[in-house]
Amino acid sequence: PAANIGVVGLAVMGSNLARNLASREGNTVAVYNRSYAKTETLITEHPEAGFVAASTIDEFAASLQKPRTAIIMVQAGRGTDAVIDQLVEAFEPGDIIVDGGNALFTDTIRREKAVRETGINFVGAGISGGEEGALNGPSIMPGGSAEAWETLGPILKSIAAVAEGEPCVTHVGTDGAGHFVKMIHNGIEYADMQLIAEAYDLIRRGTGKSPAEIAEIFAEWNRGELESYLIEITAEVLRQVDAETGAPLVDVILDQAGAKGTGAWTVQSALDLGVPVSGIAEAVFARSLSSKPAQRAAASDLPGPSASWTVDDADAFVEDVRKALYASKIVAYSQGFDEIVAGAEQYGWDIKKGEIAKIWRGGCIIRAQFLNRITEAYDENPGLVALLTAPYFRDALTETQEAWRRIVVASAQSGIPAPAFSSSLSYYDGLRADRLPAALVQGQRDFFGAHTYKRIDKDGTFHTLWSGDRTEISAVDAH
Ligand code: 6PG
Repeated sequence: PAANIGVVGLAVMGSNLARNLASREGNTVAVYNRSYAKTETLITEHPEAGFVAASTIDEFAASLQKPRTAIIMVQAGRGTDAVIDQLVEAFEPGDIIVDGGNALFTDTIRREKAVRETGINFVGAGISGGEEGALNGPSIMPGGSAEAWETLGPILKSIAAVAEGEPCVTHVGTDGAGHFVKMIHNGIEYADMQLIAEAYDLIRRGTGKSPAEIAEIFAEWNRGELESYLIEITAEVLRQVDAETGAPLVDVILDQAGAKGTGAWTVQSALDLGVPVSGIAEAVFARSLSSKPAQRAAASDLPGPSASWTVDDADAFVEDVRKALYASKIVAYSQGFDEIVAGAEQYGWDIKKGEIAKIWRGGCIIRAQFLNRITEAYDENPGLVALLTAPYFRDALTETQEAWRRIVVASAQSGIPAPAFSSSLSYYDGLRADRLPAALVQGQRDFFGAHTYKRIDKDGTFHTLWSGDRTEISAVDAH
């Protein structure tokens, strides 16, 4: 057999990944797609890749050296199960099936278990970086067994993005760990995008600057601590002029954001794990709110603030927004890493947080300089309980929190919504609070449901006889 690696599913992501693989020294890539027409287009358009084209799954399996390794790049969902079934039929024990789609990690856990029973290895690998990343170097987050990683590691390292000399791929953990971490990546991506959008909106409506002028501000921010792919592309989007109308493109795009579901998964999973990822949740909900035209139309004549609100010093305001963005971004990443910690504990994965931050430095959508600071924080203190309390981030928050407050105040006073900014600030204040009103909630729960409470001054569990003489009893005696 001629090929050392195969790709199944030749839509844009699949073809680009196949071309990336083929471009690396020593690889010969077998390709298969359900309809042969796509395969034919790919091999005709890219003769330089030297693809081995297969028209059936059996032909595909026969063209692969053993242990066979195939990466599935199909739309996540039922299609993935169908392709896995076909490959399991055609493959043998010891072979490796990789799912490179955006699968839900619990599906990956289920699939890994089922495939493992046949003796074949199954690896769910998160791949980030969009079409461009797939072609030139994505960030790759593989789960699966250590045995599979031995064969797969070198191949994935050869195609991954490189950040500061290191390939952006690591064995994240067993079974669904890779897709879990990719899901968190996407949750953080949602938060980051929403925060940037709020910053843009506040500056635009607060100072009256044009999208092109704001593009320059983002380009400037991209030279500082906010340096990131998302800030960079934001400047590009804001600069874009619509050919048809001559208006800024951002002004002719319908303001209803779509979502394919990975952000919602991050929040659903966080709810199950009991991790407050409020910044990510706000970002998901902000997209939902935007996509409710009937409700928005019905509410559009509700009153806003009656007092007038103006920005006196535009430069100072922009700088405050920058700081608010930075502080909120720290919260979003801190919450995302909290979820990684909780997920790792729940599912029994040994996930190295510092390594995850490292493989996100290049190739993926949230790539940024900032990730180095996260790696350093976990290197310094692997048991760090909250990322935002690491010395570097503590300093950054100290430096930015006053500005952050001013911006949240400005948002409330002006009626310009900044859900992610304000919820991140509330999270920050909640986390650092001496006492939380959770004590009152416990009192309420005890009142109506005898749910009991603990005291700050002694051990034990207590209940007040609310409907009796209101004395307190030890809860062991309560029922
Ligand atoms: C990536 C992206 C990619 C993607 C998602 C999210 O890491 O390359 O996260 O996976 O763009 O599909 O898209 P939605 O915004 O449509 O949910």
